[in-house]
Amino acid sequence: MKRSTLIILKTLTWFVCLWQFGLLVYEAVTNTLGPDPTANIELSTGYTTLLLIILTLAITPLRRLSPRLSWLIKFRRLLGLFAFFYGTLHMLTYVALYAGFDVPTMITDIAKRRFITMGVAAWLLMLPLALTSTTWAIRKLGGKNWNRLHKLVYVTAVCGIIHYWWQVKPGVLSPLRLTIVLAVLLAARPLLAWMQQRRSRAVSA
Ligand code: HEM
Repeated sequence: MKRSTLIILKTLTWFVCLWQFGLLVYEAVTNTLGPDPTANIELSTGYTTLLLIILTLAITPLRRLSPRLSWLIKFRRLLGLFAFFYGTLHMLTYVALYAGFDVPTMITDIAKRRFITMGVAAWLLMLPLALTSTTWAIRKLGGKNWNRLHKLVYVTAVCGIIHYWWQVKPGVLSPLRLTIVLAVLLAARPLLAWMQQRRSRAVSA
């Protein structure tokens, strides 16, 4: 890919990823966050976090599908870091606007409300991924260990989906779409690896 194309695509990615944040800032400034501003911020940041994690997870299977898509790897770290950015905004919205920085309230919530417990688990699992996203960390850990650690992204995604299901009212199916996409991505990985193995065995036979 040409350097100029890459710069344009990266700029576009920044723009698209910052869109939801910009929208929330705009709505906050113009007082148009709706009847429940806290819920609006919490729901949109939560959804964006999960969406970005799932997009990050889609990159490897897409690259395996075709060598022409190998350039997508250049966007994985950016998407992952934006997922962490929105996840942290989401977590801070809870800490500031739901719990009012009240530690006993947060502890009771984490202990008693299973969807909060799962959300905290999902965020905590994102933390080592974000902290080790630098080139320096990759070099320090070594490729193998880094890859092993970054498998945690699957656990984060599953925790995020469970958190989403546990958060909605019984009978509400809004998490279904992302659940299906995540299930397809999780199934695609071993399937594509198996297909690749078969292909290389056929070539060497
Ligand atoms: C400290 C960690 C977290 C806390 C305390 C937390 C808390 C919450 C709360 C209170 C809501 C419901 C808002 C409402 O009904 O008004 C919510 C919704 C949601 N959260 Fe989290 N969350 C956390 C981490 C995460 C993470 C890491 C993800 C993604 C992987 C996530 C994804 C979602 C989603 C998808 C929703 C529902 C959005 C929708 O209905 O459109 N949360 N969270």
